[in-house]
Amino acid sequence: MPDSITITDNRTGESFEVPIVDGGVDSAEWKNNLPGLWFNDPGYTTTSACLSSITEIKGDEGILRYRGYPIEQLAEQSTYLEVAYLLVNGELPDKGQYDQWVHDITHHTYTHENFRRRFVDGFHFNAHPMGMLTSSLAAMSTFYPEAKDIEDPANRMLQITRLIAKLPTLAAASYRFSIGMPYVFPENDLSFPHNFLSMMFKVAEDKYETDPAIVRALDILFILHADHEQNCSTTTARTVGSAHADPYSSVAAAAAALYGPRHGGANEAVLNMLDEIGTYDQVDDFIAGVKRGERRLMGFGHRVYKNFDPRATIIKNAADEVFKVTGSNPRLDIALKLEEAALNDEYFISRKLYPNVDFYSGLIYQSLGFPPEMFTVLFAIPRVSGWLAHWNEMLEHNSRITRPRQLYTGAAERPYVAIGDR
Ligand code: CMC
Repeated sequence: MPDSITITDNRTGESFEVPIVDGGVDSAEWKNNLPGLWFNDPGYTTTSACLSSITEIKGDEGILRYRGYPIEQLAEQSTYLEVAYLLVNGELPDKGQYDQWVHDITHHTYTHENFRRRFVDGFHFNAHPMGMLTSSLAAMSTFYPEAKDIEDPANRMLQITRLIAKLPTLAAASYRFSIGMPYVFPENDLSFPHNFLSMMFKVAEDKYETDPAIVRALDILFILHADHEQNCSTTTARTVGSAHADPYSSVAAAAAALYGPRHGGANEAVLNMLDEIGTYDQVDDFIAGVKRGERRLMGFGHRVYKNFDPRATIIKNAADEVFKVTGSNPRLDIALKLEEAALNDEYFISRKLYPNVDFYSGLIYQSLGFPPEMFTVLFAIPRVSGWLAHWNEMLEHNSRITRPRQLYTGAAERPYVAIGDR
C-alpha cells in the first residue's frame, strides 16, 4: 500500500495523490490542485506549522522528549542549564562545552544599570510581575540594537545566551520591586537556580543559604517547563520571529501569550481556584459548577495530552520532596480531593481531562515562598530557552513569514451611507 492519500474533487471528478511524509501531508499539494480552497482550522488543531527536531510529544501515550531524551531521565539526572544547551544546540554538552556554557550564562546575568533604574523602577507600585517581565523583555531590545542582525548565527547565539541568563534577574527584579525590597545582584559562584532564589529572597545575610532539596526541586521545575513544542507562546515566538523581528521582541510577544490563564497563567489561576474553594467539603459543589459549564477546572485538560501529562507525574513527586522540607501545603488536601473527584467523574473521563503541569506546580511554588503573581514568571524563566531554540530553528530553516488565510463571512459589497442617513 502506498504511503499516501488520494483526494477527489467531487465538483470535477478529478483526483490527486498526496504522499504522507513524517506523519503529515504537504499543504502545497492541496494548494496546487485546489487553488483558493482553504482549510478552516481555528486554533490550529489539525495543522502542523513547521518541521521541528526539538521536542517530541506523543499525547496519547503521555510521552515528552527533548531532542530524543525522555523528560523523566532529564528531570532525574540533568540540570536546567544542560537542558537549555540541549534545546538550543541539539546535543547534550560534553564537560568542556558545559563548563563554557555555564560560564557564559553566569557572566551575562547582569542587566544594564539604566535598565534597572530607569525602566524597572518606572512601573506602577502594584504592577503584576508578569506584566513587568513582558514589557522588560520588549524594552531590552532597545539596549541591544545589534540583535536585529538575525542572519548571523553567532550573533543569534549571543542574544540567546543573554536572554537565558537575564531572565532570572528580570524575574527577581520584578518581584523585589513589587514588594518594595532592594534588588539583589547576581552571584557568580551560585548555581542557576540557587542564584535565582538568592536574588528573590536574600535580605541582609552575606550569602543566601537554602536546603539543596529546594534548589534541586526548582531546577527540576525549570527542566519540565523548558519546552513543549508548538504551544501558544512558542507559536507566537515563531510567528513574530517569522517577520524577522529581533529576539527580544519575539520573546516578549511569547511572554505575553504565556501570561494568559489558558496557558502559563493557569498555575496562578489554580492557586486562586483552590483559595476560592476554601475547604475540603466545598470540592463537590465546585465540581458540580464546572460540570454545569459555569467555569473551568484550572490545571486540568490539555490540547495534546489525552491520557496523562508526564510533567504532572514528575511534579507530584517533586512536591513530596519539597513538602518534606517545608511541611505540607494546606491546599494540598483540597487539590488531591479535586483530582480524585475529577478522575472518577464521567464528565472529565469522557473529555479526557487530566491534571496538567500547572495543577501541582503552584502548590510547590507557594511552599517555596513565591506569591501566586510570580508563578507564570517562574514558568517563563526556563521557557525562554524553548522559545529561542524554536526561533533559531525557524531562522535556520529560512521559513516564510506566518500569514494564514481566512474564510470571509462578512457582508458582501455595499455602498457607503452618509452618517446622517444611517
Ligand atoms: N475544565 C472543565 N472542562 C474542560 C476543561 C477544564 N479545565 N478543559 C476542557 N474542558 C472541556 C470543554 O468545556 C469541552 O467540553 P465540551 O466538549 O462539552 O464543549 C472539552 O473539554 C474540550 O475542551 P476544549 O476547550 O475544546 O479543549 P482545548 O484543547 O481547546 O483546550 C485547554 C485545552 C488547556 C486550553 C483547556 O483544557 C483549559 O482551558 N484548561 C484549563 C486551563 C489550563 O489548565 N491550562 C494549562 C494547560 S498546560 C500548560 C500550558 O499550556 O501552559
